[in-house]
Amino acid sequence: MIVKKFGIIGKPLSHSLSPLLHNFWFKKYEISANYSLIEIEINQIEGIIKKIRNHELKGINVTVPYKQAVIPFLDSITGDAKETLSVNTISLNDEGKVVGNNTDVFGLEKGFLDKLSNQNLESKKVLILGAGGVTPSVIYALRKKNIKNISISNRTIKKAEDFQKRFPFIKIVKWEKIESEGEAMDIIINATSLGLKDGNDFKQEFNVIKSNLVYFDIVYNPMETAMLKKFKKKYIKAFNGLEMFIYQGQKSFSLWNKINPDLDEELRHNIIKKLK
Ligand code: ATR
Repeated sequence: MIVKKFGIIGKPLSHSLSPLLHNFWFKKYEISANYSLIEIEINQIEGIIKKIRNHELKGINVTVPYKQAVIPFLDSITGDAKETLSVNTISLNDEGKVVGNNTDVFGLEKGFLDKLSNQNLESKKVLILGAGGVTPSVIYALRKKNIKNISISNRTIKKAEDFQKRFPFIKIVKWEKIESEGEAMDIIINATSLGLKDGNDFKQEFNVIKSNLVYFDIVYNPMETAMLKKFKKKYIKAFNGLEMFIYQGQKSFSLWNKINPDLDEELRHNIIKKLK
């Protein structure tokens, strides 16, 4: 029996729960396939893409720091990858072309923004913290919801400025000013790696904030970063990145297997168990 091979490339990968997600669905839908962690250096990207071309690998996800770096090795990019220049899902199409797509935008829409659909999103003031790999997807998902007032802040200001060149409508907030500027925000999104397991967290207190602020942390491991806990204590509506993670995986799975997998409670339970 042929076992189709899938995986995720990136570095480091030890925190990734993508194998748990996809292997759960392969079992559930009785697909003979396996999904594994493929930790690689940047000079190995070309070799991995070749494996997709020659059918050794059926599909891969891409995570930090290679979401942009993979693009030159692909035959084309499609869907939300075109707008974001950020690829997290790669497959071989029916014409034998290696195509890159982006399912992070879908993850952000379904896993976060759609949960605020009772609010008038268009008028919200949003502050994105961080100018890394996931930031273009955040900016684009916000724009798809017609949110116009978007600010971005990054410790290294140059990277925020580079985003402003690509997305001229965004404003830049200096990293030293995130607390004072944060006072007027309706939505704050952590798109940095701050708060990740074993890593650093924000030193800022964010003591003065709007009472109806919504905080979204893209981190899901741990389930609650120090910053998320701090906001919850203040009765602020706060979401972690788990739902975004699950939805991006759902769309990747459906691109590769033409099956839209269920998001059962058993799956959520398995993931949460692993995170504890
Ligand atoms: P990459 O930058 O390689 O795309 P990433 O994990 O997607 O990696 O992004 C890391 C983000 O977290 C960046 O915005 C980074 O800020 P810098 O551009 O200044 O490096 C941010 N980040 C990481 N550690 C940080 C810290 N201690 N304080 C503030 N921001 C931090």
